[in-house]
Parts: sequence; structure tokens; C-alpha cells
Amino acid sequence: MLPRDTRAGLSRRRFLTASSALAALAAAEGLPGWTRPAGAFGGRRSPPLPSGDLFSLGVASGDPFDRGLVLWTRLAPEPLAGGGMDPVPVDVEWELATDPGLQNVVQAGRVVARPEWGHAVHVKLWNLEPNRWYWYRFSVGDRASRVGRTRTMPAGDDLPARLRFALASCQNYQAGFYTAYANMAQEDLDLVVHVGDYIYESGISDGAVRPHNSGQVRTLDEYRDRYALYKLDPNLQDVHAAFPMIVTWDDHEVDNNYASDVPEDDQPREVFLARRAAAYQAYFEHMPLVSSARPTGPDMQLFRRFDYGRLARFNVLDTRQFRTDQVCGDPLATRCPDAVAPETTLVGQAQEDWLKSGLKGSQAVWNVLAQQVMMMEWDLGTALGAGEALYNPDQWDGYPNSRQRILDFVAAKEIPNLVVLTGDIHSSWAGELKPDFGDPASPVVGSEFVTTSISSSFSPQLVPLAAGSLPFNPHIRFFEGLRRGYLRFDVTPGEWRADYRAVATVLEPTSAVETLASFRVESGRGGVEAV
Ligand SMILES: [Fe+2]
Repeated sequence: MLPRDTRAGLSRRRFLTASSALAALAAAEGLPGWTRPAGAFGGRRSPPLPSGDLFSLGVASGDPFDRGLVLWTRLAPEPLAGGGMDPVPVDVEWELATDPGLQNVVQAGRVVARPEWGHAVHVKLWNLEPNRWYWYRFSVGDRASRVGRTRTMPAGDDLPARLRFALASCQNYQAGFYTAYANMAQEDLDLVVHVGDYIYESGISDGAVRPHNSGQVRTLDEYRDRYALYKLDPNLQDVHAAFPMIVTWDDHEVDNNYASDVPEDDQPREVFLARRAAAYQAYFEHMPLVSSARPTGPDMQLFRRFDYGRLARFNVLDTRQFRTDQVCGDPLATRCPDAVAPETTLVGQAQEDWLKSGLKGSQAVWNVLAQQVMMMEWDLGTALGAGEALYNPDQWDGYPNSRQRILDFVAAKEIPNLVVLTGDIHSSWAGELKPDFGDPASPVVGSEFVTTSISSSFSPQLVPLAAGSLPFNPHIRFFEGLRRGYLRFDVTPGEWRADYRAVATVLEPTSAVETLASFRVESGRGGVEAV
């Protein structure tokens, strides 16, 4: 709760900035219930609100562009029991300032938190200045959220000197604390990219460092409470409050290794699609996403693009919703005929076309794919002495034609400086992308950096096997499987630098962080070099 005099100050500033707020809101999205001018409808009569922290899940921002971004919060005074709000709409006020103390408010407004969307709010801001920091806060009556910080992207024709960002994935709550996020929040970053496994859908496991709140989640209420459990973590909240986050999902936001409408376990298609609809809705409700991502039933438009001026273009992919089923077996498989059937795809035709047009039309120095599963080939069979190549069919290796079409396109159109950012596998990797991984003379057309998990485990028994497979996969330059953390990138027009940041332990909420290894890609040259 804010002191009374502070609230009075806010009111005066709101009055003084009413014209800019109205201008901003006139430009805001015209969706019913999305956002509306402060006071335009005389204010909603407030029902009595539950006690407890309305903003227990913190604040977040994301989907930045040069003139705006999305602010997020969700009212949840009883976060692990359905949220705790009465099933009525509630007005939430927001304000955006150019200083951490919110003295210079440049926009303010009111948005309706609706019970059918879990009392989550997404405020799309427009008409901001490119390439600058802003601070924001939500309030309901005299109850206010913490202050969050966020940042717009540089203008489209600007070539910024530098971009610093972090890559995160795989934050199994049961596997450990978000020690990595405690350190990430202290980094000097412009944004964070999260490539999925933001939650895990599983039930309570034996030996959990901190147990899940329920059995395996399947319904909207269960997914909501699971997101709430994860988002209650203070380290995760600190990262969201410090940087805008660009998010995409992997499989565990719904069901392990699901593919489009095919679940991990046998169950009727309609049953799984109802579950997918619940999972997608809960994902939208808890992420700082634009309204174009708002799901309709079991469908959600998540692949989208972001330009950091002309320095980097981020193509954010969804490799789960449109993929054909993993066909050749699990967890390791030969490349069976179905894997190379023409209809086999990891991204679907529409997304593949969209990606190619975004690569071809790019003016960026660096062309980034932010996506889930490892793209470079990884044959484990030869190292195991299996007498044949064996691949993880859940990765791009299970969809070689999809990969071939994209890498051939990059080579043929001479798309410069392709950098693929990956999560999913709970271990650190670096390598080079080639149209023909089996041919040492095949050109390098891109680089791939795979981040380890924030907390999820990688089997220690697999570590020597993976390390031993590197000589049989010469395009893979780095592997490390024992450490949790994140990737930190420092990007300039001349160089892409990657630092593998690893925490000492995830058995404690905080610990030291160190750089395990660093690599660089020189613009125009391709190839990953150790620093
Ligand atoms: Fe994961």
C-alpha cells in the first residue's frame, strides 16, 4: 500500500499528464475490454476487494518494439487457490514514467482485469520513444504493485552500437531454485529471451528440491495455479521487473514432447485439444504478450518478429503447435523413412513461409532464430558404437527436411549472420550450422548457441556420452552438461559474443555465478570461435 501523500502526488501528476495519457490511449488497441482511457466511463464501481497482495505474481513487460511494448500483471491475492478474486471485472490503473521514482509520468490509463482471463491484464503501449528505459506500476484503489523497468527497441533504421541480452529456458521448479535468475537480474542487459519450459506440467516428484503444488496439471484452474507457483519465485519476479522479456513456449507448458494435437500418452484427440486450450490460455494469461497472441480455443499465434534496429532481427518460432508427430521412436532413433517424408515438418508450412520471408526481407546485421530444440545435427549412435547414426527425434534431427529447406534457403539467398538460439536440452552447446553436416567442405551458414537450463536437470550419466560424441560431430564446438545457468550475449555490428554463465548450485536461492566458456562469431565470417 502506498502512503497517502504519495497517492495524492500521483493524482496530481495524472491530472497534469491527462492529455498525453489520452493521446496514448486513443492509439491503444481497440479490443473490447483491452484498455480504456482513465475516467472515460466515469470509473467502475469497485466491489470490495479481497485482502492479501493483489500483485503477488509481480509485474512484467515484453514484446517490445521501437514505439511501445506490453505491460503485464495478474490480480491474485490467493495465487495458489485460483487467484482469490471474486468473479467480477476489476479496474486496474497503470502509469508509465521516465524515472524509477515515477515522478515524470508520461502515460497513464486504466484497464479491466476480467475473471474469464484470470484477472490478468495486458496493456499495449504506443507512442513511446525508441531505445530508452521506462518505469511502470499498476494499482487498484490505494493498493499498488512494485515498480517495473522496461525498455523500447531502437528505431527501425537505427544501427545501435550494442545489444546485451540473456537467453533462458527450462525452469523446473522441483529441480532447484532460480539461482540463475538472481544473478541474471544483476546483469547489464537490454532484454531477456525465454525459449520455453517456463513451467512443467508434471506432478510432485520424489526428492524434489521444492515440490510442485499438485499432481499433473490438465485443467485451466490447474495450469493457472501452476503458473502462480512458478511466478511467486522472487528471483524470477526480479528478472521480469528489470527487463522486457520476449517469450516462446516449448512442450512442458502443455505436455511433455507433445506434437500439435498428439499428446505424450494415448488419449482422444478432443480430450487433448481441450487440455491444450486450457494450457494455451493460462500461458497467455501469465506472459507479457501482444493481443494477437490471445488464444482462440486450442489455437494460439505465437511465432512473431522483433527488430533491434538494424543490429538484430529476432524471428521467434513455435516448434510445438504445428509439428508433425515424432515418428521414428524415442528417445534415440535412426533416421527412419517417415522422418524424411515430404509432409514431415517441425514448424508447419505457414510458419516456414513466414520465416523465409522474414529472413529474405531483413536489413539486420544479425538474423536470429529464437526457438526451442537443437537445430544442429547430433549423432550419438556412432559414439555409442551402435553401428549407425542415432538422433534425438524431438529435435530438428527428427525433421531433417524442415531443417534442410531452411538452411538451403539461408545458403541460396546468402542470408547474413544466422544465429540460432536454443533451449530444451538442459545443457550448454555451441556449434555451426551447415547444409550438409556430413561434409567437411559444406559451408557454414550459421551458428547455434544452446543455453543450459535455469534449474531443470540433465542426467549426469549422459554427460560423458555427450562429451564423447563430439569427435563424431565436428560442427559441435562445445558441450557442458553439469551446470545450470543462462547465456549472456554481447552483440555489436562486428561481433556476436556468447558467455556461458553458470551458477555454483541451484540448491540455494542465491550463489555465485561464473563464465564457463565464451565464444565469438565475427560478422560476415560465420563459424564459432572460442574466446
Ligand atoms: Fe525443459
